[in-house]
Amino acid sequence: MEIKEIEELGKKAKEEILASQNLKDLEAVRLKYLGRKGSLTTILRGLVNQPEDERRVLGRLANTLRDELTALVDERKGLLAEKEEVQPEIDITLPGRKPWMGKIHPISQVMKEICEIFIGMGFKEEVGPEIETEWYNFDALNIPKDHPSRDMFSSFYLEDGSLLRSHTSPVQVRVMERQKPPIRIIAPGRVFRPDDFDATHSPVFHQVEGLYIDEGVTFADLKGTMREFCRRMFGEGIAMRFLPSYFPFTEPSAEVAISCVICQQEKGCSTCKGTGWLEILGSGMVHPQVLRNCKIDPERYSGYAFGLGVERIAMIKYRIDDLRLFYENDIRFLEQF
Ligand code: DAH
Repeated sequence: MEIKEIEELGKKAKEEILASQNLKDLEAVRLKYLGRKGSLTTILRGLVNQPEDERRVLGRLANTLRDELTALVDERKGLLAEKEEVQPEIDITLPGRKPWMGKIHPISQVMKEICEIFIGMGFKEEVGPEIETEWYNFDALNIPKDHPSRDMFSSFYLEDGSLLRSHTSPVQVRVMERQKPPIRIIAPGRVFRPDDFDATHSPVFHQVEGLYIDEGVTFADLKGTMREFCRRMFGEGIAMRFLPSYFPFTEPSAEVAISCVICQQEKGCSTCKGTGWLEILGSGMVHPQVLRNCKIDPERYSGYAFGLGVERIAMIKYRIDDLRLFYENDIRFLEQF
């Protein structure tokens, strides 16, 4: 071990410290010379094996050098830290962030689509209140006092005896009261029932009501209109059928079903419960008593009405098996529409 050797090491170390361009590189240089296994540290440790007088000279030199290098590292560190703070690294090659775009909720989209199909066939859009009287929600629609839907547990009543409408059918009555035939309206809106929130039910859901009253309207008109609606909503390949049903405000009443869009009626699936058919709406010829309640002469006028559930139509259209998805507001679900 010679004085020259230590001096050269010191020169090299100083050069490297001053050449370092960032804190990471500087730390690597520090470890190389001053770290636990650094070359200067190793020299210092090796001095114990040297003869006494040599050890003193070399030791002083190496110790001084260590102090010098340590001070130089600290100085350089301060300089580099300042530089890195003032000039944060900006990666101009990173792609920009797109702003978030809002969208119309799928239920609103489907409701609009349904309305537009009927508007295209000459129907006019009407709205009614969500808080209804028993007269509009039940009595005028020929729903008797003992009908189960009038029960406290089947509808949401307010303290004054009014209720959150359980269907959009009361809009029929409101329109017929103030307007004489011909009447051709659709009424989209929110309806309320104290049902459990599960895969196929929600206490708040949406319906679209339809009503057509004029002289000589027949069941054939209803069938033709439903046929056209199904074709436009679900496509050419869809089959449709009427099933006898019962509603107090229509006579005769019918449920409309379309061929199952999941299994194509081939083997029967869980969605159509093996029947090959999916019910999509209730309909019928408006009951003469309902016309009379609205001061419309049933001897002169007749008409049909229908009511469909928007969630159900949306589930069929997009093959969704759980209605709750529409209400959870999960962006990953909603942004698909
Ligand atoms: N209001 C019925 C319901 O909520 C649906 C309905 C059936 C409406 C037949 C109608 C109709 O206008 O004619 O279940």
